Amino acid sequence: MPGFPSPYTVAVVGAASGIGRSAAMLLGGRGVTVVCLDRDISGAAGTADEITAAGGSAKAHAIDIVDAAAQSIVWEKVVSESGQLHAVVNCAGVTGKANLKAHQVDPDDFDFVYRINLLGPLLVSQAVLPHMLEKNYGRILHIASIAGKEGNAGMTAYSATKAGVIGLVKSMGKDYAETGITVNALAPAVIRTPMVAALPEAQVKYMTDKIPMKRCGELDEAAEMIAWIVSPACSFTTGFTFDLSGGRAVY
Ligand SMILES: NC(=O)c1ccc[n+]([C@@H]2O[C@H](COP(=O)([O-])OP(=O)(O)OC[C@H]3O[C@@H](n4cnc5c(N)ncnc54)[C@H](O)[C@@H]3O)[C@@H](O)[C@H]2O)c1
Repeated sequence: MPGFPSPYTVAVVGAASGIGRSAAMLLGGRGVTVVCLDRDISGAAGTADEITAAGGSAKAHAIDIVDAAAQSIVWEKVVSESGQLHAVVNCAGVTGKANLKAHQVDPDDFDFVYRINLLGPLLVSQAVLPHMLEKNYGRILHIASIAGKEGNAGMTAYSATKAGVIGLVKSMGKDYAETGITVNALAPAVIRTPMVAALPEAQVKYMTDKIPMKRCGELDEAAEMIAWIVSPACSFTTGFTFDLSGGRAVY
């Protein structure tokens, strides 16, 4: 179990639901001060309330990671409230329309997915990096996907943007390698969350059948890896995409 110094503040984007919610809860239970961020503010506040009710420390703010100007105000507030923001886990993401071949993809839907899944991670990183550079410490973690490594048929926009996230962290990891800041990604296979529940069942079956362990990942398995990657102990790995795919991608 990774240890955290006190105080240690982690902002979780996408904390209202699924992987982000699970990571926020686990971090809150380990003594981390958690800032729960989501465009779904009532969901983010619900997660923060649960952390607080369990004896932890948490706050919630609304954020839209595709809006550079509005989110910079949110991040300023997060930094000024915490004194030091040690880490950011960005779990915001969308699949867009799925179970479509590439020639059927609507460019507007592609753009929608691109803005949240790839532009968003850049904008989040840009918002927090000046503060982390000032402190010479930081952990930035974006959630990519097995789709970005392997490509999922029927998910052109999702696969392309998640591959983009993998490239983004490769480049950013090197940009800041001589500072105390690491920038990494995590590439899960299928984990049953509201995002997956909204996909056509044929698409979910296609993805799950490819997992050698013949099961979906569990939310706790994602949260444990996230907690490790954003902890001070994970200090010699940057620009890397950690695998969480039950053996589907062995690299
Ligand atoms: N669940 C899986 O099987 C799986 C597999 C691989 C990768 N991922 C990735 O993990 C991340 C989390 O997925 P999940 O399954 O927990 O999804 P989810 O839908 O349960 O949660 C995603 C959260 O992101 C928030 N969000 C979306 N757009 C936003 C925006 N513009 N600004 C702020 N918040 C926004 C949503 O409100 C939601 O609370 C996503 O990036 C997803 O692509 C999930």
